[in-house]
Amino acid sequence: MTRINTTYICQNCGAQSRQFFGRCPRCNNWDSFVTQASSSNHRATKLYEEISDLPIAKYSKPIDQVKELFVERLSSGYNEFDRVLGGGFVPGSLVLVGGEPGIGKSTLLLQSAMIMSRYSSILYVSAEESAQQVKLRWRRLNECKNLTNFHQENKTSQLHLMAETELEIILQELQSFRPAVAVIDSIQAIYTSGLSSAPGSLSQVRECSLALQKLAKQQGTAILLVGHVTKEGTFAGPKVLEHLVDAVITFEGDRFGNNRLLRAIKNRFGANYELGVFEMGNQGLVELTNPFEIFLGRNKATTGVATIVAYEGTRPLLVEVQALINTANYGNPRRITIGISTNRLHQILAVLEKHMGFRLSSFDCYLAVAGGVTVQEPAADLGAAAAIVASYNTLILPPKTVFIGELGLSGKLRPVTQIPLRLRECARLGFDKVVMPKIEGLENIAIDLNISLLQVETVMEAIIFGLGLE
Ligand code: TYD
Ligand code: MG
Repeated sequence: MTRINTTYICQNCGAQSRQFFGRCPRCNNWDSFVTQASSSNHRATKLYEEISDLPIAKYSKPIDQVKELFVERLSSGYNEFDRVLGGGFVPGSLVLVGGEPGIGKSTLLLQSAMIMSRYSSILYVSAEESAQQVKLRWRRLNECKNLTNFHQENKTSQLHLMAETELEIILQELQSFRPAVAVIDSIQAIYTSGLSSAPGSLSQVRECSLALQKLAKQQGTAILLVGHVTKEGTFAGPKVLEHLVDAVITFEGDRFGNNRLLRAIKNRFGANYELGVFEMGNQGLVELTNPFEIFLGRNKATTGVATIVAYEGTRPLLVEVQALINTANYGNPRRITIGISTNRLHQILAVLEKHMGFRLSSFDCYLAVAGGVTVQEPAADLGAAAAIVASYNTLILPPKTVFIGELGLSGKLRPVTQIPLRLRECARLGFDKVVMPKIEGLENIAIDLNISLLQVETVMEAIIFGLGLE
């Protein structure tokens, strides 16, 4: 007879033991040991050998025979929103829209729901505001030109509103109404009665999202979850939601300004870091399909300002980088950035000190990207360096010049991706000179676009020739 030995395995770290422990001796986790049956005559190996004699695939099939499913995406009603989503909502998907409180998430989703309700059924679940409050906003937005009032056409609206916080009731309504799209505003405000913890707690957020995800997949409803982010920019319910959902869209911008940026930071159905631009006004949010003006300052004759072309998602975006270099009054000089990482500023300053001899350690340095944009790619380095040098020397950079390039620690410029698209955007907006690293094969594009390229090897050359200091 086969003798079964019991081994125990820790579900947290995978430690194995013949002895049971209440607390894992390796990772110190409590209650993580579970039994794992094994036998002394290697039953599993034998079973494997038996099966491998039979070349019949039972549960898998060749990939070319897997049935393809062509899904028709639902337009959100806004080109900018659609582009960020990768072409609209995928039926059955779960999308998280996050942002700071008051940034305009409810406004955006209500506007989108109003447009979508012209051609599909929508359920808007308001868990934070009463039905009356949402109705008031709806009425106000309805008076806008771009959001047609359905009642004028004597039709009942396909946009249904429900003010509810209990998950079970929301699920019931979703099952009976079966909308094409549902908005849950917000995931942190709803709760399941199966758990005793408070709404917004980790277990509630996870449990509710899982139940909604299951339902979305089952009946093909696209579900939009609104999530509040903390000051540090993470979703409350640490990262739990980001793993679970199909797409994470953040809605950001300067709350005191009007620009709002919609950015995909994870998207199973489209490009990451795609950017959509909106403007908040009296008539709600208006999309800006040609947003360059807000990112390029209108006052050209200022010192310490350089233009760069950032590549966000699938779209090049011309933005202004502004630097202010001032004598430091206290021991430690200040290094403050807006829209660009402070570590990059430190690195750019170090390269300028080492390779160009600027003594910047006794100066405060402020660096900001205009228009509330956050630039993440290193292609902005050269523009930032040019703005810093210009501010240090009180210079005005030549007009209609764009700086592209990453700064290597050795002082050499490193090439960046998508150069032809960036050049095209520069030409489209009337810029005629681009300072950039040496890349071959761009002559024809430059002639076509009527743009002059200043291709250099080092940051020193870029600054001297780019700023006209020779
Ligand atoms: P809201 O959508 O409630 O923010 P969130 O859901 O992200 O918390 O937006 C609130 C802000 O938007 C509020 O400060 C007022 C402003 N707003 C306008 O400026 N114009 C408008 O037409 C609307 C509806 C809101
Ligand atoms: Mg809200």
